[in-house]
Amino acid sequence: MERTLIILKPDAVQRGLMGTILTRFESKGLKVAAARFTKLDESLLSQHYAEHKERPFYAGLVRFMGESPVLLLVLEGVEAITVCRKMMGKTFGRDAEPGTIRGDFGVSRSYNLIHGSDSPEAAQREIKLFFNAEDIVEWQPAGHTWVYDSEDLQ
Ligand code: RTP
Ligand code: MG
Repeated sequence: MERTLIILKPDAVQRGLMGTILTRFESKGLKVAAARFTKLDESLLSQHYAEHKERPFYAGLVRFMGESPVLLLVLEGVEAITVCRKMMGKTFGRDAEPGTIRGDFGVSRSYNLIHGSDSPEAAQREIKLFFNAEDIVEWQPAGHTWVYDSEDLQ
């Protein structure tokens, strides 16, 4: 089992797409391990986007991400990081394939609805940045045994 940090960005919240996007993850079989609806401050955002500090889009990105609330999620599943990145699609809505979240719901380069951790190291760092250990809930969804065969869990 792997955990990933997902952020439903301000544009997803403002456009009323939180439920639609979360439904896709739930329907896929991903489990919500933690959730928090909040407005992110500049200090958290500068830590989260430290790798992009020198990029021309950095200032606009931090402004956009702090402008309005976001939904923070920790999702859990087998290969959850890769599965979620595939479901998100390419970074820019115009390039993302139909059937992906960005491909189906966005056309913008900056307003791309969702963030997902891109590696196990990033997931560990990002989950720690936004959640305390006690906020992660250990639980077993009732349908779990019909989502994964025992071989999937080896
Ligand atoms: P994310 O980190 O949000 O999951 O997205 P990503 O890996 O697909 O894209 P990344 O290269 O990490 O870029 C982070 C976010 O910065 C914004 N961006 N804007 N206007 C631009 O040229 C530009 N490039 C990147 C996007 O919001 C992107 O998700
Ligand atoms: Mg990224």
